[in-house]
Amino acid sequence: MSNEVDVEAVVTAVKQSAKYGDTSEATIRELAVEAVRQHKKSKPAIKAVRARLHSIMAPYLGDPDYSAEAIRLDAAFAAPDETAIGAICRDCLYAHLSTRERLPIMAEFYERIFAVTGRPQSILDIACGLNPLALRWMGLGAVSGGRSVREQLAVSSERLRFYAYDIHEPRIAFINHYFRLEGLPELAKVQDVAMDFPQEGADVALFLKEMPRFERNYGGRGRPLLEALRARFLVISYPTISTHGGRNLTNRYREFMYQLIEGHNWPVTELLFAGELVFIVEKRLGD
Ligand SMILES: C[S@@+](CC[C@H](N)C(=O)[O-])C[C@H]1O[C@@H](n2cnc3c(N)ncnc32)[C@H](O)[C@@H]1O
Repeated sequence: MSNEVDVEAVVTAVKQSAKYGDTSEATIRELAVEAVRQHKKSKPAIKAVRARLHSIMAPYLGDPDYSAEAIRLDAAFAAPDETAIGAICRDCLYAHLSTRERLPIMAEFYERIFAVTGRPQSILDIACGLNPLALRWMGLGAVSGGRSVREQLAVSSERLRFYAYDIHEPRIAFINHYFRLEGLPELAKVQDVAMDFPQEGADVALFLKEMPRFERNYGGRGRPLLEALRARFLVISYPTISTHGGRNLTNRYREFMYQLIEGHNWPVTELLFAGELVFIVEKRLGD
């Protein structure tokens, strides 16, 4: 049985650390409970939690300066300056490796995906990172000439519900700040999707470039997560080239993906982009 005092001491120590203090407390507590079962003293338990967080949070992928970017966005929206808004969103996307790699294909990426799923009115962006800042490249605004992007999004925001989930607190606060400026409801949440599967229903669920790490970090929860999601289409993507070695991962991840959904009668559409392999899985009702 775990010792409650030790768990709290470990949670407090990690929550106060500069590197991992931004992580959801629920995530830290779950890891701390596990760590104090394996380690009798708090020092090795704290070290074990930090090691798990290194892999889960992947801080080496990068972050923008959230406070500075929020101030820049406030000024650009107040002006309003559509070019500046787009440039700031781009800077934020550039600051994190997953979205930085997607920048050259971003508009084509969503155009081809939504050509298969239809243009969604509701989205779940799971383990979202900075991806919600790509909203302006998703082609979700009303397509009427003469309107600014913000006006187009405002028109469609009556219908668009964009849920985003991550365990990095400042990232989620920043995304909600951006949603508010766009006139969208603040539907970004600090939620550990390994412990607490999203319950919201949507047309499309995005789970981009995180499944291999997710399976490694939470052994075996990838398949139940996909089964639990209440979305008509699941969009799951993988990098095609490894971050470190430059190896081609396409075949390995294709095999991995089909194993994950084996036994389900879910039609799959595969899209290959420069740097990213996408599977669009259509969930059947009642399956
Ligand atoms: C590699 S980034 C992917 C970002 C985004 N999906 C993309 O492709 O641009 C992984 C993100 O998943 C988040 N994450 C990791 N484990 C999570 C969990 N259990 N619940 C929610 N978010 C998680 C991390 O904080 C990080 O922001």
